[in-house]
Amino acid sequence: MTDRELMGMAREASYNAYVPYSRFAVGAAIECSDGSVYTGCNVENAALGSTICAERTACVKAVSEGKRSFKRIAIYADSENWCTPCGSCRQFLAEFSPEMEVLCAKAGSRYVSYKLSDLMPHIFNY
Ligand code: THU
Repeated sequence: MTDRELMGMAREASYNAYVPYSRFAVGAAIECSDGSVYTGCNVENAALGSTICAERTACVKAVSEGKRSFKRIAIYADSENWCTPCGSCRQFLAEFSPEMEVLCAKAGSRYVSYKLSDLMPHIFNY
């Protein structure tokens, strides 16, 4: 699967975002080491702190299907800025694959790529 195909899946997933509060729809597609892909969107809640980001939705879907090793995640939002993962999602993803690639899009078809360990060095672990 190409980066663009993975990002296309993230974009599709963003259409399911439940975002009545922020109106900021995000989609993610995580590629596992076995080549399978799981998608997710952000799911907000009236208790705002209970909101779940798109990246964590995708990751939890994968882990709950027995996947624990990831190659890439694509993150899409129709936004002005690159949609980079929040700090909680960085820590959450790094639990499983700190060296995974993180593709971050913005409005249009452009994206940037980072290594997760560059975005989130020195993760908490014990
Ligand atoms: N959000 C994500 O889903 N992923 C990110 O990388 C950044 C933020 C969501 C959380 C909330 O529903 C909305 O975007 C605005 O913060």
